[in-house]
Amino acid sequence: MCTCLLIDILTMLNINEIRNDFPIFQREVKPGVPLVYLDSTATSQKPLAVIEAMNDFYRRSNANIHRGVHTLAEEATELYEQSRVRIARFINASAAHQIIYTRNTTESINLVAYSWGRAHLKAGDLVILTEMEHHSNLVPWHILQAERGIELEFIPVTDDGLLDLEAYKTLLARSPKLVSFAHMSNVLGTINPAAEIIRLAHAAGAVTVVDAAQSVPHFKVDVQALEADFLAFSAHKMCGPTGIGVLYGKTALLESMPPFLGGGDMIKEVKLRSFRPNSLPYKFEAGTPAIAEAVGFGAAVDYLTSVGMDAIAAHEHEITEYALERLEEVPGVRVFGPSAQHKGGVTAFTLDGVHPHDVAQILDRDGVAVRAGHHCAQPLHEKFGIPASSRASFYLYNTKAEIDLLVNGIYKVKEMFG
Ligand code: ALA
Repeated sequence: MCTCLLIDILTMLNINEIRNDFPIFQREVKPGVPLVYLDSTATSQKPLAVIEAMNDFYRRSNANIHRGVHTLAEEATELYEQSRVRIARFINASAAHQIIYTRNTTESINLVAYSWGRAHLKAGDLVILTEMEHHSNLVPWHILQAERGIELEFIPVTDDGLLDLEAYKTLLARSPKLVSFAHMSNVLGTINPAAEIIRLAHAAGAVTVVDAAQSVPHFKVDVQALEADFLAFSAHKMCGPTGIGVLYGKTALLESMPPFLGGGDMIKEVKLRSFRPNSLPYKFEAGTPAIAEAVGFGAAVDYLTSVGMDAIAAHEHEITEYALERLEEVPGVRVFGPSAQHKGGVTAFTLDGVHPHDVAQILDRDGVAVRAGHHCAQPLHEKFGIPASSRASFYLYNTKAEIDLLVNGIYKVKEMFG
């Protein structure tokens, strides 16, 4: 990668400085081949600040939390809880107890399905999802459908990759109990009008779940402005570690819900034949949690805040516009999803006559990392009549030069496949 000064003129982000924050960009994928990482939708790279926060925790403060009065236990507890406060601030939650640590977005949505769903949904109740959902916002509801006999309906996706809001309004007339949807598609990149979807759901008397796995990392998300009832996201897609995510919930809803998992820490009192659950957020955090990961999550939130979420969003928008422009000029490339105006930094595409896995494998020879497959969104691929796609995704550290390398690589693939 060019070592010249690389400033995003629009956002004034110093991309070289940002890339220097991420040690992984110093490596070569193969001798002489630098890393062109276009797979941040699967997981983002980690800045040194996050790696060091976790390293420091294990070197200096490692102990279990909430369980000891010794210095290290108090220090570990303090670090774990401070991260919760910073994460709450990051999404503008009004209280830290609304931030439930989970393993990831998938577990957060499962928590809602198991706990809220089993307490509030019965046979015949309608749950509205969309055709662009990740499997993690489909399968938990399939399981509940099999168990409880709830009904599922889906907001259709238009040919240009947007949600059909007129069809949504028609579905709302059937008085759904829940509307659960992706804030941003992990395949099409579509940024859905979350505030409007939630407002309409509330007017129809439904509770809302926002799968924010792809939104919280990429632009400012304000849970109070959205009026989201539940909102789920993962640390590893936002410069933090794997193994930790968040379920945000409105206090009254979280308080009305039974515990999800039973065990240590989630109780106030246990008798041989009964227990009393702990208060929020601990009621939903059974067992020793991912403590070092919570510390890393807090550092990730600090890092993103220091760069600035608006600047990150603007930079990604610029890169996405450029990527769409360049990809669309390649004969045989079909790009999925809406125009850049409605889209975050994710672009799924196919190349005529070449399997997406072959595209990804050949790109990898030049160090270009893209994902190939159905990206945990099989029904969406079926909708577009394809079994799989290649997907390039962008984050704060990507450059237009990397898009050029992607496009050059696709031309090479075309040459190889005649
Ligand atoms: N949900 C992640 C993706 O879309 C894994 O790649």
